[in-house]
Amino acid sequence: MRGWIYDRLVAGMTTGWYREVLDRLPNGARVLDVGIGTGAALAGCAELVRSKDLQVVGLDIDPDYLERCRGEMARAGLAGHVRPVLASVYDHDDGPYDAVYFSASLMLLPDPVAAISHTAKLLTPQGRLFSTQTFHHRRSAVLERIKPMLHRVTTIHFGRVTYEHELRNAFIAAGVELVELTTMSDKGRSSYRLAVGRVRGAEGDLGDGRASAA
Ligand SMILES: C[S@@+](CC[C@H](N)C(=O)[O-])C[C@H]1O[C@@H](n2cnc3c(N)ncnc32)[C@H](O)[C@@H]1O
Repeated sequence: MRGWIYDRLVAGMTTGWYREVLDRLPNGARVLDVGIGTGAALAGCAELVRSKDLQVVGLDIDPDYLERCRGEMARAGLAGHVRPVLASVYDHDDGPYDAVYFSASLMLLPDPVAAISHTAKLLTPQGRLFSTQTFHHRRSAVLERIKPMLHRVTTIHFGRVTYEHELRNAFIAAGVELVELTTMSDKGRSSYRLAVGRVRGAEGDLGDGRASAA
């Protein structure tokens, strides 16, 4: 039931976020999806995953979401491409990965800096760290109080209100260079943005032909 609610309320939006990131990956990329959830957003991009022959490890700590995710991957024909794993990001030591992706998950983690620095160590030298999420433009004490409580009515953890400087500071503290921060969609008081990071000192691009420096 919780997974069904998530898919109805959020996955439609995050499917577009996944598409933005997966579009940028080279064929055959090995991807770590941190907080894959029910997998509905990734399944919405099934054709892209298959055509690019992406290999995805999907981490999550929520057993109910992961169970739904396994069914979702099978139905979407992605069982050979996506491996859902019940584990916290902080305990995952596999790799190397060409891309680490946090979709709506980075700033709801208890320690985003540790999550960035840990997963950056799992990247290849040319690898990239992607994060998509909502940013609020102006401080709102009311929203800051309400957002963390939304899970009581929706069962979904939306994390806390996040401002741009917090993400920038998290990347700096983790020693990962933020090479791009793109607005995917502007909602007025908030926006959906894509952040791309690379390990400091790493040369070259991911192989998708895009410049690696912002
Ligand atoms: C808002 S959902 C995002 C789901 C999906 N990525 C999407 O964009 O639709 C955030 C997910 O992060 C997961 N999560 C929370 N803490 C985690 C951790 N320490 N390690 C891995 N996943 C975690 C949650 O269980 C939840 O499924």
